[in-house]
Amino acid sequence: MKIGFIGLGFVGLSTAAAFASKDIKVFGYDNDSKKLELISRGLVPFYEPSLQDLLKKSISSGFFKICYSLEELILQTDAVFIAVGTPSNNDGSINLSYVFGAAESIAEAIRKTRHAPTIVVKSTVTPGTAKQIKQLIIASAGEDHISVCSNPEFLREGSAVQDTLNPHLVVIGCDDDFGQATLLKAFYEGLYSEKKIPIMITTTSTAEMIKYTNNAFLATKISFINTIANICQRIEGCDVETVAQAIGMDPRIGPLFLRAGAGYGGSCFPKDVKALISFSESRRYNPLILSSVDTTNRLQPFEVTALVEKIFRNISRIKIAVLGLAFKKDTDDLREAVSIPIVNTLIDREAIVRVYDPKAMTNAKGIFGARVTFCNSALECISGTECCIILTDWEEFKQLRPEDFKKNMSRPIVIDSRRVFDAPKFEKVVEFHAIGRGQPKAQNKNL
Ligand code: UGA
Repeated sequence: MKIGFIGLGFVGLSTAAAFASKDIKVFGYDNDSKKLELISRGLVPFYEPSLQDLLKKSISSGFFKICYSLEELILQTDAVFIAVGTPSNNDGSINLSYVFGAAESIAEAIRKTRHAPTIVVKSTVTPGTAKQIKQLIIASAGEDHISVCSNPEFLREGSAVQDTLNPHLVVIGCDDDFGQATLLKAFYEGLYSEKKIPIMITTTSTAEMIKYTNNAFLATKISFINTIANICQRIEGCDVETVAQAIGMDPRIGPLFLRAGAGYGGSCFPKDVKALISFSESRRYNPLILSSVDTTNRLQPFEVTALVEKIFRNISRIKIAVLGLAFKKDTDDLREAVSIPIVNTLIDREAIVRVYDPKAMTNAKGIFGARVTFCNSALECISGTECCIILTDWEEFKQLRPEDFKKNMSRPIVIDSRRVFDAPKFEKVVEFHAIGRGQPKAQNKNL
């Protein structure tokens, strides 16, 4: 089966390269010609572990081909995956203009080539969208036999290749006689022939809803544990990390996505929770739990800044180091990163802010500009500061010892919002605070 990808952003490019690495003929198209040019030279336009290597290999092996027109792609493929972005509108609802734009272009290419591959929607879209895409293509391509399937994505930034090659589940939504679903199922069975990956076949609307429910549930787990963390924080000697570990042992709860912090970020959870709220409201149902998840997450970064203000009372002219700017480790992505409201608040309160991230510095420069000092290493960043806030759990930060803070900072106060460090070990050497960790009675203020 020859597969085409329309949209070579994070999901499209990672999935295409992963498929090509398994000797599947893949064709890619994006309407950003600069991006296409980079990819054709085997260069990934963003940071994602192991993708660079994989892309180079798949381009040079010939399994991944770049197309410079949509007709070229349509003519050569049996199935075309739509993987364009679905950003938020200002009111939180989903903006489907890129998806419908891609559908219009596909329809035009089908009309010109008289070749109609199966259309597979990979982009995250609200329930009913695949059906609308089908109607749109049938109307403008003048073809009746168009099949549009939904195949939502569960890969994560930072482990996209691994996740694509080892998914926990494949969901295929299809509304016609399921003939196309069988075709896609056979494709995935071949791709994962050495593994037992469950494949679910559903309607397109159910498949679209599975994707939103998955992300909304994970976001709910995070906002829930962050709520518990905020309570623990206010109880002497209480620690959310231990609470999470204990409840995670209950098989009905499970241990994952219970890491408290400054809130979830990225291009998916914040956007998808808002889109599901808006979609639900458009169906005249008020999803109270989702609104609470969203509000809890919007306020969570301010738990960190409130802690800094509680420690210093007035942070004007206080030198503060922020380690970790990306929305999570192993990415250079700052979309909806908690570092943005936190750094902005510190700047508003006139603190002197120094920042460092192993991969996200270029993107961060575009956001914070000259308002902060950009440093070349974690040690340079903390040097001479009175407070250090850890916002992302990069491996590099885990190597830092409490003595590094004691030696390099002018006053060693460490706020670990990602629970990177061993608290009892740090508490002996520096003034240590962590999200969800109620202060022990005798905090070592004079260190
Ligand atoms: C998320 C989902 O995990 C993927 O399954 C999904 O395919 C993807 O969205 C998408 O819809 O495209 P991603 O946003 O890449 O993936 O990253 P996650 O690892 O899920 O982390 C999201 C945010 O939650 C990060 O800010 C992370 O730091 C935060 N998080 C995660 C926590 O605060 N606590 C946790 O326990 C776990």
